[in-house]
Amino acid sequence: MSAQTDDRTPVLQLRDIRKQFGGVVAVEKFSLDLYAGEIVALVGDNGAGKSTIVKVVSGVHQPTAGTISLSGETVSFSDASVARERGIEVVYQDLALADQQPVYMNLFLGREQVRGPLRRLDRKKMVHETQTLVDELDVRIPSARAIIRDLSGGQRQGVAIARATHWATKLVLLDEPTAALGVAETAKVEKTVRTLRERNLAILIISHSLDQVFRLADRICVLRRGQQIGIRETAKTDKNEIVSMITGVD
Ligand SMILES: Nc1ncnc2c1ncn2[C@@H]1O[C@H](COP(=O)(O)OP(=O)(O)OP(=O)(O)O)[C@@H](O)[C@H]1O
Ligand SMILES: [Mg+2]
Repeated sequence: MSAQTDDRTPVLQLRDIRKQFGGVVAVEKFSLDLYAGEIVALVGDNGAGKSTIVKVVSGVHQPTAGTISLSGETVSFSDASVARERGIEVVYQDLALADQQPVYMNLFLGREQVRGPLRRLDRKKMVHETQTLVDELDVRIPSARAIIRDLSGGQRQGVAIARATHWATKLVLLDEPTAALGVAETAKVEKTVRTLRERNLAILIISHSLDQVFRLADRICVLRRGQQIGIRETAKTDKNEIVSMITGVD
C-alpha cells in the first residue's frame, strides 16, 4: 500500500506550497522536508504564515498550490480528521478543545471507546487511560472528569498536548504550545517534545521564544511575510542570524 520508505524518506515533504485567502497570499513557495526523529522549529513574526502552514498540513486548509507528501506518498486531506487517521496530530494556537466536555472526552474526541453490544461509551476506561496519561506527562489537572471550561489556560494546553502525544504515530505539529505557560510547565512541555523525538516522530514546532527554539530544535526554518527565508541547522547558526532572517535587518 505505502510507497517504498527508508530513513531518508521524509515523513513530511512540502513542495512549493502556496496558500491564498482571497487577495491575501499567506504563504508562497514553501518547501520543507521533515524527517523522523527530528524537531524543526518554524519561526517568523506575527502574520508571517506559520499557523497557515500548520493548518495546510493538518487538513484544516487546502493549499492553493503545491504538493504534500507523507512518507513518500502524495496526499490531499479533505479535512483534519483524515490527517489524524494518518497519524498527524496538532496542538493548535487557537485551542481546539470541546469546552463543555470533560477532559477524558476531549482526549478521545472522535475516537471514543465503547463496550458491549449496545456500544455504550466506556467512560471508566477512558477516564482511567486519561488519568494514566496526564500523570505520565505530569499535567496537573483536578481530575480526568474535570470540564475543560473550568481549567486554566495552561491546564487546557496540557490536555491538548497530552492528546496529541497519545495519538500521533508520524507527525506532531505544535503551534506555540507554551505561549500561555509558566516556567515549570514550559519545561515539562519541552521534555514531552523531546520524548516524541525519541519515539521517532517528526515534530514541527512554532515558537516566538528563540531560547526555546535553540533548546529544542535540530533545524530552524524562517518565514517572513509568507516567504521562506531559509533553513539552518541549529548547531550551525546563532540567534543573531535568525533574528536578522526574521526581520530582514542585519
Ligand atoms: N482564515 C483566514 N482568512 C483570511 N486570512 C487569513 C486566514 N488565516 C490567516 N490569514 C492571513 O494570513 C497571514 C498569515 O497568518 P498566520 O496565522 O499564518 O500567521 P502566523 O505566522 O501564524 O502569525 P502569529 O505569529 O501572529 O500567530 C496573515 O496575514 C493573516 O491575516
Ligand atoms: Mg500563528
